[in-house]
Amino acid sequence: MQPVSASTPGRYDLIVQQLVPGYASLARLAVALLSASPLAGANGASVLVAGCGTGAELLEARAQRPDWHLLAIDPSAAMLEAAQQRLAEVSPATTGTPITWQQTTVEALDADQSLDGALSVLVMQSLPDDGTKLAFLTALARALRPGGQLVLVDLMAPERSPLQQQVDAAWVGFQRASGVTVAEAAVTGLTQGVHPIGGSRLAALVEAAGFSDPAPIFQALNVQGYLLQKLP
Ligand SMILES: C[S@@+](CC[C@H](N)C(=O)[O-])C[C@H]1O[C@@H](n2cnc3c(N)ncnc32)[C@H](O)[C@@H]1O
Repeated sequence: MQPVSASTPGRYDLIVQQLVPGYASLARLAVALLSASPLAGANGASVLVAGCGTGAELLEARAQRPDWHLLAIDPSAAMLEAAQQRLAEVSPATTGTPITWQQTTVEALDADQSLDGALSVLVMQSLPDDGTKLAFLTALARALRPGGQLVLVDLMAPERSPLQQQVDAAWVGFQRASGVTVAEAAVTGLTQGVHPIGGSRLAALVEAAGFSDPAPIFQALNVQGYLLQKLP
């Protein structure tokens, strides 16, 4: 997926909730999980929000952990601007530690960030599995301290093939029932130009990047979440 275009952040906010089953819980769940981890659980921990989009995880982090030092990155200027506006409206700067914003990709982050935790929600699925996903995960591992944890949520390609067609059809039905048209769904970049992988491929990639085995923490149709820990 290309970064969502400049005109779309407002539409993204509306449509993503109708398109992604369980989306309303994802940010809350991701922040709660990381908040319970040994490193990011500490007061004043540093946490990367990779591909922050319009700010769903940032809002939730502000609410649950106003003490966190958040590094919010996204390559899309429009998304960063939308997130900054949303945060300013809902959560004034005075209510938490200031957020550091960077218009960049995970792969282009400064090498050693020594962060305590990271969130990546609905980002890696847009990257092709031609070395790009591995570079993304390797950069996330590089950004973390040993023992730092990553909550990774992505559109996956489940490997239980006899049931797969039914799961795919159910997602189309879910979108239709939510009133989202094919064209609207395409605007989000969540249904077209995506490169979902299966669980065994993900396990191989995260191992190569320096993470522990992915522990499943969420699934709604093909949207799956994992908790990973950077190995020493
Ligand atoms: C589908 S949106 C998800 C946004 C948000 N995490 C959420 O759950 O609503 C994916 C975001 O990832 C950003 N993105 C794409 N490639 C990226 C990369 N390599 N590193 C960081 N962010 C990236 C896009 O610009 C987009 O804002």
